[in-house]
Formats: sequence, structure tokens, C-alpha cells
Amino acid sequence: MRRMTTTAAPVLDLDAVRARFPALAQTVVDGADGEVPVVHADAPGGTQVTAGVIAAMTAYLQTMNANSHGCFPASTATDALVEAVRRKVAAFVGGQPEGVVFGANMTTLTWHLSHALDTRVGPGDELLCTRLDHDANVSPWLALAERTGATVRWVALDPVTGRLDLDTIDVSDRTRLVAFPAASNALGTVVDPAPFVAAARSVGALTFCDAVHAAPHVPLDRAAADVDLLACSPYKFFGPHAGVLSADPDLLAELRPDKVRPAPDIGPDRWQTGTAAFEAIAGVGAALDHLAEFGMEAVVAHERTLTRRFLAGVAQLDHVTLHGPAEEHGRTPTFAVTVRGHAPDEVARALAARGVWVWSGDYYAVEPMRALGLADGGGAVRIGFVHYHRLEDVDRVLALLADLDRGA
Ligand SMILES: Cc1ncc(COP(=O)(O)O)c(C=O)c1O
Repeated sequence: MRRMTTTAAPVLDLDAVRARFPALAQTVVDGADGEVPVVHADAPGGTQVTAGVIAAMTAYLQTMNANSHGCFPASTATDALVEAVRRKVAAFVGGQPEGVVFGANMTTLTWHLSHALDTRVGPGDELLCTRLDHDANVSPWLALAERTGATVRWVALDPVTGRLDLDTIDVSDRTRLVAFPAASNALGTVVDPAPFVAAARSVGALTFCDAVHAAPHVPLDRAAADVDLLACSPYKFFGPHAGVLSADPDLLAELRPDKVRPAPDIGPDRWQTGTAAFEAIAGVGAALDHLAEFGMEAVVAHERTLTRRFLAGVAQLDHVTLHGPAEEHGRTPTFAVTVRGHAPDEVARALAARGVWVWSGDYYAVEPMRALGLADGGGAVRIGFVHYHRLEDVDRVLALLADLDRGA
């Protein structure tokens, strides 16, 4: 979302990065090659965490474990921690700390938000969704439309390029919400928020951006992009399982979330149903410290080399089809492939048996899989890298995909 500078990008110290992640030392015994390191190539499903994240969560439980808004030291320390991590999240996604809401995960936060929009949407109104989104940015809006009598319109996905057809961004004075992704968890496509925001602004609609897949790959700036609401999931950016919503504090104050009567009536706490997972919030702070230390520009530059390597390698494999953007720009190092003669599930199992862990199926990206005609064939195999992967990890995946040509 942020404009990148054209000066030379900082180089990522990959050894230093990898040393932070204890899980990257995991090995398995591969029947063919003996003991090999695990390649965690399911980053879009969840990334590994740093030792700092583990330490922060443990320290919280050992020294601060308490509920919020009490008068004793562990409780006031918990409140201070939450505020400190809100500031870090705000710096990471772009926005104000008072607009940061913590939740169980992105899906839960989005459903919660969708209920708060019930009073803003009525019969005959329209909601705009895209065919590129994960279902967490689709189902809550379909349900909102059903509850309120609104209609859902769709932005089409070009199955060849793996990019949204911007000509199908169709809004009217009845449009109340424009929901779009910052990047696709299925195809790796990065989406520019500008046309969605411009369309929404032209008719006074709210914008909601699913930044779950983008967060570990693309610098975000919700406020600069003028997006009203943005959600992401720290477990996809090297933190623990949790969700985060960022919004303008005034908008959060205007909307009416479901809440119990004694819970705070002002501020982001008003949106956090029940007690937050404070130990997870401690971990989120440590994950963001890690990213701030290495810097997103270095992350982006390193991921570009991984992307280039994979795209060049997969282009040599006639029996493997890449679905989604074939060019290295405007995409993350997340690749959906199908392999001639092998079902996606079979490919994922074959790779897992050799220590390469990937996902297969639709990964809840129901609309993209339908648009690409893959829904009835078991979806695709998703291979996803992040900044802690090495070129040799990419090569290993490519070599195993090449092996699958035998017997096809
Ligand atoms: C793009 C995208 N959006 C939303 C979600 C849902 O996130 P969560 O698991 O935090 O509910 C995911 C999870 O895979 C995702 O990849």
C-alpha cells in the first residue's frame, strides 16, 4: 500500500532472520535424502514465530498474568502492554492506536463488524465484494446482505492474469460497503486499494480491506490509502494466533458493536468482546519488533528474489501449471499450481513425505477457485514463502515438483 522508494533496497540478513525462528531448525527423515530440514512452505496458512515472540508470551504469563483495568500492578502492566502494542500495530498498518481492536482472528472480527453495520444497510442497498477474496471477506457480507435485504455485486477476477478486472468496480448511490483484499491468499496477487477507495468515496460507501495475506509481504498504510477498515492476522506475520482490526477511531465510535453492558462504552475496548488474549497481544508486539528491526523494504527485496527464482523454475516444468500472476511484480511469493496427472492433495502429500509442507484445496478462497475453474478438481497446491526462506528452499520445492513428472 505504501509507495516504495527507487533507491537500492536494504539487503536482508537472512542468517540473522533465520536464527530468530526456532521452528526452522526442524528436520524430518526423508526416505530418499536422509535427514533434511523441513521447508515450511505453508506460510499463507500461518507463519512460524520468533524466539522473541515465544519469550514475550511466556514473560507475560509469568509476570503479568491478570485481567485489564484493575488497580494492582499486574493489571496496570497489562493495560500498559495493550496500549504499547496498539501503538506498534498502528505504526505497522498505518493509523491511530485508538483505532486498533484485538480479536481472536480476522474472521471473528469481520463477522463482529458486519453485525455492527446492520443499521447502516437496508433493502435495496448494495455491497461490493470481489471474486479474489478469501471467504472471510465474503461470507460476512453475504450474510449482512441477507439480513438487511441488500444486494451483493461482484468485481470479476480474470482467470488468466489472476488479477481483478477493475472495469467491473461498479458502485451506485446505493453502495454502502466496498470490500476488497490487499493481496490474495490463493494466487499471491497484490491489489492496489486506490480504485476501490476512489469508487467508494465517490458514493459515500465504507471500505473494508482484508490485509491478512498482504501483511507479511507488503508495507501497509491504511490511513494514507484512505481505507476505513482493515483487518489482518498476526499469526500470518510471525506472531501468535490473534486478529487485529484497524479503523479511524471516530468511525469505531460511530458504529454500535454488540457488547455486554458493563464493558467500556468508549475506545477500542468497546469492540473487544470479553477478555482479550493478553499473552497473544504480548506476542504480537514482539513480532512487530522483529519486522521493524529488519524492515519491510528488506523483506520485500528478499521476497522478490524468491519470487523470481520460483517463477523461472516453474516455467521450465511443462507438467506444472501456475495459476495467477506470472510476473514477479504485483505479487507475493505465494504460488498456486496444479500438476498434470496428480490431484492437488496427492501432490501436497508427496511433498510432505519429503519434508516440504504445503497446502492443497481451496484454502477458503472459494470464489477464486471457482473463477479459475479449479473448484471441482480439488483446488490447487499452494506454495508460500516469506522472508525467512532461502533460495535453496525454493529450489527444493521445484526439484520435488520436477520429480512428479515421472509416471504422469
Ligand atoms: C486472505 C485471508 N483472509 C482472511 C483469512 C482469515 O483469517 P483468520 O484465520 O485470522 O480468521 C485468511 C486465513 O487464511 C486469509 O488468508
